[in-house]
Amino acid sequence: MNFKGRDIIDINDFSKEELLFILKTARKFDPEFVKSDRSNYTIAQGKIAALLFFEPSTRTQQSFSSAAQKIGMGLIGFNDPELTSIHKGESFSDTIRIMMAYADVMIIRHPEAGSARKAADIADIPVINAGDGPNSHPTQALLDMYTILKIFKRLDNLKIVFVGDPLHYRTFHGQFSALSKFSGNQFYGVSPKGLEMPAEFRNSDYHDVVIDMKDLDKTLAELEPDIVSVGRIPKEYIDGDTQKYDFQVTMKTLTVLPDHSVIMHPLPRVNELDPEIDTNPKAVYFQQARNGLYVREALLALVLGRI
Ligand code: CP
Repeated sequence: MNFKGRDIIDINDFSKEELLFILKTARKFDPEFVKSDRSNYTIAQGKIAALLFFEPSTRTQQSFSSAAQKIGMGLIGFNDPELTSIHKGESFSDTIRIMMAYADVMIIRHPEAGSARKAADIADIPVINAGDGPNSHPTQALLDMYTILKIFKRLDNLKIVFVGDPLHYRTFHGQFSALSKFSGNQFYGVSPKGLEMPAEFRNSDYHDVVIDMKDLDKTLAELEPDIVSVGRIPKEYIDGDTQKYDFQVTMKTLTVLPDHSVIMHPLPRVNELDPEIDTNPKAVYFQQARNGLYVREALLALVLGRI
């Protein structure tokens, strides 16, 4: 399977076999599977990654930066466009044209849906979408799948419950799209009325569970999920008062879940996860964030044709 030169824009651009190949490649960078990663340090020596972050990020930006350096790459880019010539009126297209001249792969986060695809159409180097508004965040979906595979040893026949805002939250869209490629998965979107999953991210395996979020624990007890995928309510996409949507997963929530179930969250969190649960074995979100490093090392090596 050859990924050299390929753009990573949307999880739906990949077949089930391609997704599994990427996840298998990520194991080569994960200390849980490879005891020494010394051989990885020079995989992409001499190559440059350009990180173009038009929007804030902690995990995606820093893990791509770490991943690139771990495989020997140099870094250029910005995380505040106002400190570049965009401040003087430079167009998006010109910024992409300039940055592609200085780099071998471009990683872009931008608030506008479709911006990563637009960059890929302009650039003659691989472009990796690090999140384009509410649209897509394919490397998040990949690291979520990698986490699920590590924990459950399978990606099929799972019951996944999305808790929060399936209407706007791109992580839920990505997880649904990716896991829909595998058989027997059942999806439940637990949300307040008005925040149900959009039509394009549904199939007959998807079910809405519209509730008053105060009843979350009772609902989760009834659903008996394998995976509780939690997300913050993205207030930046919702008009008006959002306080009515607030909820929190607490120690009490954990007591109603099956023993084998896990709580995932792409982070950042606001109040939806009580920090008291962080050290509970069911809380896997910090492992999830760490897995992003291995997946992003693999992706960089793959699109550069170095593995
Ligand atoms: N999960 C995620 O994309 O986090 P950041 O916004 O911090 O990159």
